[in-house]
Amino acid sequence: MSNSSEAELIHRFKGIPFTTRSSPELLKSLDTFDARDDDVLLVSYPKSGTHWLAGVITKLYNTQVTLTSPIEFGDISKLEELNKLSSKRIIPTHLDYNMLPSNFKNKKCKMIHISRNPKDTAVSMYHYYRDNPNLPTIDNWTAFFDLFVKGDVVCGSWFDHFLSWESQANDNNILFLFYEDMKKNLPKIVKEISLFLGLNISDSDIQDICKRSSFSEMQSDTEKENSDPSHTVCALTSNRKLIFRKGTVGDWKNHFTPKQNRRFEEIFNEKMKLSKM
Ligand code: A3P
Repeated sequence: MSNSSEAELIHRFKGIPFTTRSSPELLKSLDTFDARDDDVLLVSYPKSGTHWLAGVITKLYNTQVTLTSPIEFGDISKLEELNKLSSKRIIPTHLDYNMLPSNFKNKKCKMIHISRNPKDTAVSMYHYYRDNPNLPTIDNWTAFFDLFVKGDVVCGSWFDHFLSWESQANDNNILFLFYEDMKKNLPKIVKEISLFLGLNISDSDIQDICKRSSFSEMQSDTEKENSDPSHTVCALTSNRKLIFRKGTVGDWKNHFTPKQNRRFEEIFNEKMKLSKM
């Protein structure tokens, strides 16, 4: 990473870069976290559509649910704070599977994992880095591309993250979704999510949820500040406007040079050779 303030903004835990907004004490204590049987985890690598998915999921419930900030975000008081919540908890996380508090695994809590073409994820993260004072300064796209393929960005390597979760593909308490499928046919995916969560949602409610979860609706909600501006799922900003940038598939083509694309494909093929993706 590329500037002098990096040390103030980033620290490593088990080799993975985290912002200083995730305290080492919290990260060390995560395994003591008391999961509840009805917790729902929303799992993603950053910039994969986490807020979009969170927007959909919270609209599915007609009982009270609390969408928390990511479990790894905050200081040691976070565990107590989550403990105190009396309503059902929807808990986001960007952690690799092997760092997930074991209680969630033992209790077989429902987890929904969303991933996105890593090329678009990289571009989205690049813009996020550029616009976000809580992240190190990036000189240009070329510099960011190199950091991304090395995994030298917050939350570490996209490949390691994806593979750690994919290793659990046979767990029936984990639903695997793709951003691109949500773009292609949101009602189908919303139906799938509702069945997975055991919720009975009518087709007309699904249509309504999809309408209210479109990029333009979510972006304009943010602009009108209908939603609490201090509440983002993302650990790295409280500015919701940074989240809704473009919301398209294939923006990588506007950034990757042919050489970068070849290099990315080589790395992808090598790292993902055992993946079913
Ligand atoms: P872009 O930067 O490519 O626009 P996350 O929530 O994990 O941080 O992901 C942010 C990405 O999801 C951003 O991508 C954002 O625009 C996109 N996104 C957010 N809401 C969306 C929606 N309703 N429809 C499509 N994309 C959305």
